[in-house]
Amino acid sequence: MFNSNFEPRTSNLELWGDFVQIDVFTLFPEMFSGPFDTSIIKKAREKRLLSVDLINIRDFSRNKHHTVDDTPYGGGAGMVMGADAIFEAADRLRDRRGGIGRFVYMSPAGVPLHQGMVRDFSSESHLVILCGHYEGVDQRVRDRLVTDEVSIGDYVLTGGELPAMVLVDAVARLIPGVLGEAASAEEDSFSDGLLEYPHYTRPRVYRGMEVPEVLLNGHHEQIRLWRRRQSLLQTLASRPELLAGAPLADEDRVILKQAVIDLEKLGLPEEIGKKQKRRKEGNPESRIQNPE
Ligand code: ADE
Repeated sequence: MFNSNFEPRTSNLELWGDFVQIDVFTLFPEMFSGPFDTSIIKKAREKRLLSVDLINIRDFSRNKHHTVDDTPYGGGAGMVMGADAIFEAADRLRDRRGGIGRFVYMSPAGVPLHQGMVRDFSSESHLVILCGHYEGVDQRVRDRLVTDEVSIGDYVLTGGELPAMVLVDAVARLIPGVLGEAASAEEDSFSDGLLEYPHYTRPRVYRGMEVPEVLLNGHHEQIRLWRRRQSLLQTLASRPELLAGAPLADEDRVILKQAVIDLEKLGLPEEIGKKQKRRKEGNPESRIQNPE
């Protein structure tokens, strides 16, 4: 029932500290074995910083054929994931863990995931993630069990398993000790509200493309300024809407103003605006028609 590969370190939520326990309610536990048994997530589990238990919802179905879906009251196409097996599994989990932390339902109708939410989830010692299927889940699960409903984007997947993996991965890398370099999580895109600056490694010249001179001179302040400028310009070019929410210093504003003046000379802000509009609106045919 509880995947024996994913044993918790302790059942006492109080004692966990930086350790995060994630319990995933799914109809397809086998989907998780690749991503959770590889690379950083695997190491985080081995280091006992993270424990992921996979709970097969079907095991808690009390009907003869272990089905978990049913036709919707009121009619309509498709099937709905019933409340019973999910409530039963949650009851068992509550007994086993001594409580339930946040209960996250992955759904295209949820709040779009962003790094601030990931940071918030990573500060919890216990998360339950429910992977939806079919047309969605009985509303009583959402009303009574779910604390957070999360989407990974405005598109519909066949189930919540891939979104759950995305969330676990994003949360895991913020648990102290999971990433080798303490700095690397702090410096990534979004951690300061901006996109990341460009990175280079050897060789110095590759197919005629040179590493910017400033990165080679060992002058830390110049490198810091160059990287900051690049972050600002990258954000302005790709995600200008992020600038409104990013904490900007006066020197950042000077850099951005100058960049906009330079771009205006080239007629580019209009291009950025158009790109933004296309991104926001997308192709009308590709918009979600019926999120759960
Ligand atoms: N389930 C199906 N599509 C999803 C999405 N975009 N985000 C979260 N859960 C989902």
